[in-house]
Amino acid sequence: MNRFENKVALVTGSTQGIGAACAIRLASDGADIILNGHSELDERGEELIKQITDMGRRATYLQADVSKVTDVTKLINDAVASFGQLDILVNNAGVEKNHDFWDVTEEDYDFVMDTNLKGVFFGIQAFVKYCMKEKRSGVIINMSSVHEEIVFPHFAAYCTSKGGLKMLTRNLATELAPFNIRVNNVAPGAISTPINKKLEEDPELMENVLKNIPLRKMGKPEDVAGLVAFLASDDATYITGSTYFVDGGLTYHYEEQ
Ligand code: BGC
Repeated sequence: MNRFENKVALVTGSTQGIGAACAIRLASDGADIILNGHSELDERGEELIKQITDMGRRATYLQADVSKVTDVTKLINDAVASFGQLDILVNNAGVEKNHDFWDVTEEDYDFVMDTNLKGVFFGIQAFVKYCMKEKRSGVIINMSSVHEEIVFPHFAAYCTSKGGLKMLTRNLATELAPFNIRVNNVAPGAISTPINKKLEEDPELMENVLKNIPLRKMGKPEDVAGLVAFLASDDATYITGSTYFVDGGLTYHYEEQ
């Protein structure tokens, strides 16, 4: 399927997990891809570039720390310069820290909030300025979490950032609609990625998590990528300002027995 022919997508935090799956999926649907990571290009990134170019698409890697406003702004501008245009922005990069609330330091808080919310805010701002200047439409997909909606004790900063992302998306959908820029959130539940490595290595924890998931299994990064590709595509031209859950039923589950 070539639904993204002549489209360029930037996926932040895309050397592994959900971001990598999104990059591969968008490329297999026809998009050229700008990969991004916090560190220098490593083997994982090189392998992804190979996978994407083997599909006949263009791919490049831009290193940037999206938690810093100057870096994320430069990332957007460099992404535009890479292939001469930018159509799809997937704000995927995200971090979490497991701490009791009373132990969270200012540094922990800033790390989570700056990566998950501030960087997204100003990355979108740079993208929107580009779209407005060039009179182009745009699609933005933010990787939120089921925890923009439901609690996650010991992850207070993480929940705060994702809750903020929910309101950012709702707000921007209205403000950017006149420019034909759509903004949506994707909210994964428990997905098998490096962020959940510890969880998946602990059978007791896993049992507790799976009890909360009606489909009784972890999701795969590809499950999330399919939804991202749909929201980025023209099948979703009437969709903006909402959150779409990909969580095996986790968010709205209830069982008595
Ligand atoms: C978190 C995971 C967690 C999942 C379900 C995600 O947002 O990153 O650590 O397992 O939500 O609670």
